[in-house]
Amino acid sequence: MRKLPENPSIEIAPSILAADFSRLGEIIGGLEGYVRLLHLDIMDGHFVPNITIGPPVVAMLRPHSTLFFDTHLMISDPMKYAPEFVKAGSNGITFHLEVVDDPHAMIKLLRNLGVNVGISIKPATPVEALEPVINDIDMVLLMTVEPGFGGQEFIPESMDRCRTLRTMLRDDQRLEVDGGIYADNIADIVAAGADTIVVGTAVFRQPCPPSQAVADLKDAARQCRPPR
Ligand code: DX5
Ligand code: ZN
Repeated sequence: MRKLPENPSIEIAPSILAADFSRLGEIIGGLEGYVRLLHLDIMDGHFVPNITIGPPVVAMLRPHSTLFFDTHLMISDPMKYAPEFVKAGSNGITFHLEVVDDPHAMIKLLRNLGVNVGISIKPATPVEALEPVINDIDMVLLMTVEPGFGGQEFIPESMDRCRTLRTMLRDDQRLEVDGGIYADNIADIVAAGADTIVVGTAVFRQPCPPSQAVADLKDAARQCRPPR
């Protein structure tokens, strides 16, 4: 089973949402050796007002990549579809706290599937809502924009939410952030405690190749010392 990289490490997780979907295989192949995670934004048009890809596309991408498929389920029924994404090649499944009645049952399902377990919260969900489950997961994904679309503005209140979440997590657990992150704010969010940074526009909508954009983001992230 591909595991999340061990902490402490700062990981850039490119989100394919911003990539040219007509060339995904070629694009993700070009990231080999530059990143260790690939962030797959899965949307069902119900939990969020957008629709992206499903298990068949993940299965077709799998042979083109050795990366950890960090699968963000922005869908209303993660219990039903998680097994299909795992079968397709997802290595980590992140579901939204807002859509499950019993997060422990969802965590148990994912543990039985042998994948890394993440829980995500929307900007309006208090971080304290994670307290009942936070010891049982591998990663928290803090949405720093409203889920559904790339290219949005970073929500400033996310910095304090990130700092609070870091104090709630063990050092071996990851704190991932997602949305509106660029070279000019990545150092701040790392200083606030994030160690896994989802970036779509900042990688795939730049004049330079994605590999160069990733290198620039890593340089920018190093401009600070994360809190430990
Ligand atoms: C929102 C998506 C975006 C995307 C990254 O549902 O999850 O946050 O991954 O978007 P940008 O383009 O802001 O990096
Ligand atoms: Zn995402």
